[in-house]
Amino acid sequence: MPSEIKWKIRDDYTKALRESEISKEEYKRLAINFGIVSDSYDEGNRNEADMSNELTDRVLKMLQESFLGKPIRVLLLGCGPGTVEYSILREYGGDDLENVEVHAVDLSAKMLDIAKQYGFNVYVHDMKDRIPKEAPQKYDAIIWMGSFMHVLYPGVSSEEADLQRANLLKRYYDALLPGGQMIIESFYAHGESSAWEYARVPIIDGVPNKEDRLLFYLRDFNLKDLERLGRNAEIPRENVQLFFTDRHATQEGIIYCSIDEIRRNPPPQYEQATMMLINLVK
Ligand SMILES: C[S@@+](CC[C@H](N)C(=O)[O-])C[C@H]1O[C@@H](n2cnc3c(N)ncnc32)[C@H](O)[C@@H]1O
Repeated sequence: MPSEIKWKIRDDYTKALRESEISKEEYKRLAINFGIVSDSYDEGNRNEADMSNELTDRVLKMLQESFLGKPIRVLLLGCGPGTVEYSILREYGGDDLENVEVHAVDLSAKMLDIAKQYGFNVYVHDMKDRIPKEAPQKYDAIIWMGSFMHVLYPGVSSEEADLQRANLLKRYYDALLPGGQMIIESFYAHGESSAWEYARVPIIDGVPNKEDRLLFYLRDFNLKDLERLGRNAEIPRENVQLFFTDRHATQEGIIYCSIDEIRRNPPPQYEQATMMLINLVK
């Protein structure tokens, strides 16, 4: 038996795919694979969260400016261990989340075991389905931190996948209370967008073990995809704000722009990956 296995050490970005090429069987393993890395994920995010970076500050600001400290009900989609989300929400509602009622959805029960400790109501549930029946159906804020990129429809054409994604987005947008907002953090593609297969490679006794790698899939979105998504989901353009950052950057500024401004002035390419933060206001 190996004495020490570390799961989080190396991400290998392997190949770009079309969604139709992704194996449904592998995609179904997503929850199990995320479950396996849940502890190290929490630990990694805790360090990240301690930093309080531009991204978390920006999300906090969006909530504060919209809701002015009033009690809010929040739905977290793909919340994972909830560490990053809690670091934001405690700034809004205090350590006990006094004025924040949190409902958190994830496919991985292991991830949610951690999220429960933050006082979240948790639901092992596929965010591609409807809001869980036992959860409230209307929210002040719906937040996808690092999860919208995992909403993939393997085995169908990109056009069909884009339509299904837009329908999903519209359903959640409709679940916002008046004045509510949906916040999405995801990957931005500078050029052609595509789905990605990447692997987390475990390090066993200090040696990367490529045999047991865990596969994950994600998709990035370029400007055209975003415009199509917004149009298909019938979300008015003027209700959309975009920000760009690198999730791990603490120094870099976030650029706020409208879609038209991005055309003229594309976002900077960060060393790791450019993340975008989309704010859809009801
Ligand atoms: C990259 S992690 C992000 C976790 C956390 N929100 C954060 O920002 O650190 C993505 C999470 O989305 C979850 N996930 C992926 N697809 C999902 C689906 N269809 N339904 C619910 N959760 C899903 C995974 O289990 C994982 O916990």
